[in-house]
Order: sequence, then structure tokens, then C-alpha cells
Amino acid sequence: MYLGLDLGTSGIRALLVDADGCVVGEASAPCLVTHLQPGWSEQNPEEWINACRKAMAELRSQHPKEVAAVQAIGLSGHMHGATLIDRNGDVLRPCMLWNDTRADAQARRFDAMPMFRDTTGNIVFPGFTAPKIEWVRENEPDVFAAIHKILLPKDYLRFWLTGESLSDMSDSAGTSWMDVGTRSWSSELLDTCQLSEAQMPQLVEGSDQAGELRDQLRSEWGMTGPVIVAGGGGDNAAAACGLGCLSAGDGFVSLGTSGVLFAASDTYAPAPDKAVHSFCHAVPDTWFQMGVTLAATDSLNWLAKVTGSTPAALAGTLPEKPSGPTSALFLPYLSGERTPHNTATPCGVFAGMDISSDQSDLTAAVMEGVAFSLADCLHALRSTGTEISALTTTGGGSKSPFWLQTIANVLDVTLDLPAKGEFGAALGAARLAMAADIGGDINSLMSKPEIAKTIEPDASLVSIYQERYAQFRALYPAVTSALSPA
Ligand code: XUL
Repeated sequence: MYLGLDLGTSGIRALLVDADGCVVGEASAPCLVTHLQPGWSEQNPEEWINACRKAMAELRSQHPKEVAAVQAIGLSGHMHGATLIDRNGDVLRPCMLWNDTRADAQARRFDAMPMFRDTTGNIVFPGFTAPKIEWVRENEPDVFAAIHKILLPKDYLRFWLTGESLSDMSDSAGTSWMDVGTRSWSSELLDTCQLSEAQMPQLVEGSDQAGELRDQLRSEWGMTGPVIVAGGGGDNAAAACGLGCLSAGDGFVSLGTSGVLFAASDTYAPAPDKAVHSFCHAVPDTWFQMGVTLAATDSLNWLAKVTGSTPAALAGTLPEKPSGPTSALFLPYLSGERTPHNTATPCGVFAGMDISSDQSDLTAAVMEGVAFSLADCLHALRSTGTEISALTTTGGGSKSPFWLQTIANVLDVTLDLPAKGEFGAALGAARLAMAADIGGDINSLMSKPEIAKTIEPDASLVSIYQERYAQFRALYPAVTSALSPA
């Protein structure tokens, strides 16, 4: 038996998988995010542990024999968060998450130094780890001085599970301290940030063994034999493992809290000037490119909150398929944006409503706005020579047929909708556990899901959406110039 633990922003998921890769059981528990000031987004690492204990207790109560037989655990987690540990292994402050934008000034300063983009292959985005630690150095010097180790969220979970400070390549590639081409820490970048390699976890591949479960937890969960923990991956790389997305030509679109357009690659092909993310994959000798829009389902969550509804109820007001663009236009930059604008300044906009615009028009506009943002990501990826003609769909938002058809029309790309079942980051984590345990051919462990439905772009609407996309593109500069101080 294998266990995938996926630490998502809204909670943890524990997935039990047998030796044939089939899902046996699952359990989850929520985690809270706090926003104490505009742009701040934090989580208390203790919550991850409590949520993990809760999910494991539930999984065990449902599948005691199978949990007892677990041989290996794989980890996946939201990326870029900084968990700061002192010499005694205690957490120094709440974890600043991937969508925390307070370190904008620090990120811009680092990004202006050519060595960051040259070495990491990426823009230094405010949500990445290095600028956040620089913010701590400037604003909480006592905390900075006490840092013994800096761990990414899933690696803090590993530290609790095993006592070891280790990380995998895919997650570490999002710190702004890694030489992504050579898959190693950059002592030059660490030095620039007044940090040292000793404060970093040791690097392993996601499919390598990276620690062994502590005896205390083994007995708490009733596991009989030794349990190894695999390197695992950042959530997007792990999701790619769950979807069998490992080679050039494989890609997916994820509608989670953030929206992601992901393309696997056999080579390291950075394009920071296009705001493309270029990271190591969770398996050896493989990389990926990704465009990120920061608020995908988060935009729908926001609309639900302000209209006193729920995302599912809002989605339920829409037909199966759009008949064309809605009257309203929405910019989904509620938390700033990564691809293509690289801005920490929130700029959510509704434009062009009329007196008859109702809740369902605004819902359709939100989904369309996210689709246009994903079109920005697609163009950024294509401008580097990456070819994308079909994408697998994943994430909570992909439950909406209207949203998927809108995306197919806007991107003019075929979408493959997997059959019901597991194919996300938790499955990817379990597959990495299997790879670490038995080795062998990684590709054969990471098969592609059965496709239940293929969504083709509606040829009669593609050019109409393209015209609307041009208006979406024009709206952002117009609004930012109108809102900028005189
Ligand atoms: C990727 C990113 C998000 C988070 C949260 O760069 O910031 O996808 O990993 O899911």
C-alpha cells in the first residue's frame, strides 16, 4: 500500500493506493488561511500537522488493514511558502503562502539583479520564497537571526513525519535560490540573501527515498513495517505525475484556487521575460513550463462571498455551453497577477454591465475572465516554442461544463476530461512513493487517466471570443492608467 499526502491551501488530502496504483480510500481535513493585512496570506504550520493527524485518523478508521500495510508515503504541497525553523526545530512565525504579496518591493529588487533570472530561469515573483525571507530580514530581524532551516510546506510536514530536512527539485525550483538547470542550490544567490546552504534542506529527486516515518507515528497509525517517505513534489509537478504528464507534448489546465497551464518538457527552456515559470519536474532529467493566473476558483469564491451564494450554486445558474461571450468583462486580478503581468497590485474589474446583468451573467463573466487569463498563459508558453494542441483538465473548477467549454473556445484547444476518479496531486504523490519504493520505469507507474469526454472548441464561436479577448487585453492597461496616481 502507498499513501499520497497532498497539502493544499484549503486542506490536506490523504489518498491510499494499492500496489497496482488503484485507489483504496481517501480522507481529508481543512486548513485555514488568514489575511491579517491586505496582501498577507498566512497559515500556521501546526494546523497542517493537526489536519494530517485528523485525515489519517479518519483514513485508519475506514481502512485499518490497508493503512497498516503502507510501505511508502509521497508528499505534495502548495509551493513557495516559507516555514522557518529554529535550532530546536520550533516554528518561528506563521508560514507566508504562495499568494502572499507583501514582499513586492523585495521581489522587484532581487528581480532587477540579473543573476536571479540567469540562475533560476524565473522572474522573482513576490510570492516566491526568497523575497519573503528578505521581508523577514528587514521587518523581523530577530526571527531572521534565529533561522536554522527554511522548509517548504510539504517539507515541513516531512520534517514532522521523519525528523529530516530534505526537499525535492520541483518544489525547491520555486524558491528563487535554485539553479534550475543544474538542479542544485545556488550558493551565490543564497549569499546575496545573507543565507547559507546549511540553512537549506538537502535536495533529492521527487521519486527518491527522502526519510523514514518516525516510530511514534508508525505506531499511532498502526503501520507494521518500516515506511519510507519519497521526495514528492510541488503541487503542480505532483498533479502532473497523477495525470501522466511527463514528456514534451503533455499538458494540463488546472482550475484550482489558482489557475495553471502546465507543459512538460525534456529540456530546461527558461523564458522569464514572458513571465513563464520554468521549474524542475518531480522526476529526474525532466522540467516543465507553466503559466499561472493567481485567482481562478478564487475569483468564483469571491463572487459567491459578495453575492451571499456558493460557487456551486453560481455555476448551477449557467447552461452546459455558452452561446458566446457575456455582456460583462471581468479582470480576475483580485490578488495581483503572475503571467503575464507580474504585479502584486490587486486589480479586479467588472466592466460593460447593463441594467439587466444578473448573477448568472456575472458568473459567466468571471469564468470567461479566468479563461482569458489562461489564454495569456497559453500565448506566453507558445512564444517559447512550446506546442500545445490538447490539454487534460483538473481541479475543482473543471466540474463546470460551462467553464470548460468557455476555456476550449477561448484557447481554441481541445480539452480532455478524465473519467471520474483520482488523478490529482495526491495520486501523483502516491505514485512518487511507489517509484521511491520499487524503482524501475517511472513512466509505466505514471500512466495517463482514462478520458471520459473530449471538449472541442466551438468553431462558430472561436473568432468571436478572439475579438472579446482583444478587449480583455486592452482593459487592463486602460484601468491601471486610469487608477494610477496623477
Ligand atoms: C505555483 C503556485 C501555486 C501554488 C498553490 O507557482 O504558486 O500553484 O503552488 O497551489
